[in-house]
Amino acid sequence: MAPLTEMHCAAPIEIEFLGRDLLVPCVDGRERTYVDLDCAATSPCLRTVYEAVTAFLPFYGSANRGSGYKSNLTSQAITDARATVRQFLDAPDATVIFVDTTTHAINVLAHSLSPGSRILCAPGEHHANLLPWRTHDVHVMPFTDSPGAAIEAVGDALANHGPFDLLALTGASNVTGEVWPLAEITALAHQHGTEVFVDAAQLAPHRRFSMTETGADYAAFSGHKLYAPFGSGALVARSTRHLQGEPLLRGGGAVRFTTLTEHRWGNLPGRFEAGSPNTVGIVALATACRTLMEIGMDRVADHDRAMRRRLIDGLDRIPGVRRLTQWDDNHVDTIGVIAFTVDGIAHGLLSTVLGAEHAIGVRSGRFCANPLVLELLDADPAMIDEALATGITGALPGAVRASIGLPVTTADIDRLLDALKSIVSDGPRWSYVCDDSNGAYEPHPDPRPTCIDQFAPGQPNRITAKT
Ligand code: ALA
Repeated sequence: MAPLTEMHCAAPIEIEFLGRDLLVPCVDGRERTYVDLDCAATSPCLRTVYEAVTAFLPFYGSANRGSGYKSNLTSQAITDARATVRQFLDAPDATVIFVDTTTHAINVLAHSLSPGSRILCAPGEHHANLLPWRTHDVHVMPFTDSPGAAIEAVGDALANHGPFDLLALTGASNVTGEVWPLAEITALAHQHGTEVFVDAAQLAPHRRFSMTETGADYAAFSGHKLYAPFGSGALVARSTRHLQGEPLLRGGGAVRFTTLTEHRWGNLPGRFEAGSPNTVGIVALATACRTLMEIGMDRVADHDRAMRRRLIDGLDRIPGVRRLTQWDDNHVDTIGVIAFTVDGIAHGLLSTVLGAEHAIGVRSGRFCANPLVLELLDADPAMIDEALATGITGALPGAVRASIGLPVTTADIDRLLDALKSIVSDGPRWSYVCDDSNGAYEPHPDPRPTCIDQFAPGQPNRITAKT
């Protein structure tokens, strides 16, 4: 096999993030520079976002309500942000509804659908793209072993189990990183009169996602996975067919007029944005979209592919490491989200050792996608029944996930690979205890300081270990 060389390095993207050289304490009393490989869960904050938010805050006022100058500026910031989001997802005429997260967006759409709507879902979805639809009539497709089989499964479901009001699909899996063939699937769905919602939480930060080219009717993404962790996301709608119903949140801004007994809901997008908007988060989200567009999503994708290639080539050389894939990932575009297991080491222990001894942040478990992870790990059905009956999930299998974002460097990837090699050959160097109810581990004892006061303004960008 080729050594890990320049072929695994994309041209570095010179862009600053907060916390890039953060020193954190490890259980051995030493400090190490933090390696953040948990970007699929939450990504670090872009400096452009931080600076835009800081510049905006003095002008922050009541959006869409007041008549003062600060209110005017704040309302304009939201209008501008809607235009930026439309541009980012290539959806020029779309309605942009600002929400908190992708989960929130999906709940808004599900709540607005007519009661008893028929929804078609893939089985590997994040819980956020499974559970909200269960208030309607859901048909879940079978697992598939290739993108071609996935397209066939959609065609089969549409032809034999339809009609469906909506097909809800991820753009890229938060477990395997596999990118779904959206354009082909959407064309099929439209032939059957079914609209398509795309959960773009993982896709949007890693690849150019054009709603127009893929034909997606609705999509959602989150700021906290797009380097803008200020609590805002967006539901973007090129169709309004399923946005005529009840708003999830009732309150000011959602309603055109109300008496003591009756009300008339307002127009889009306000109908689904009750309460004062999170303008700071909206400014952050739009700034992140602009920064990514300025970098160019092709460069973003090149970096992601190069880091992923380096990581999977390295993982595949470590004895006992098995990567989780649904499809043959040599033939599928796959974002930098890589879940794996290591023979003989519990997933919860491995991720805790990486954090506690090596200052490497990853996630372990089933990544809010229980059905997919349990399928890929061939979980014992009796164990699943037991977990359903008791709520105790500690015995269920899981995996470790490393996920790549723009700040991740080749040195970060190599730190993870070196740490894994050391754990595989020598085991943990500290002692750990397990919570059997959920399979989580923690160091015992844990000498690392956790005092939140250390994050007070003016403190240096480091956490000092206890002496
Ligand atoms: N949805 C996030 C993840 O996959 C939290 O980790």
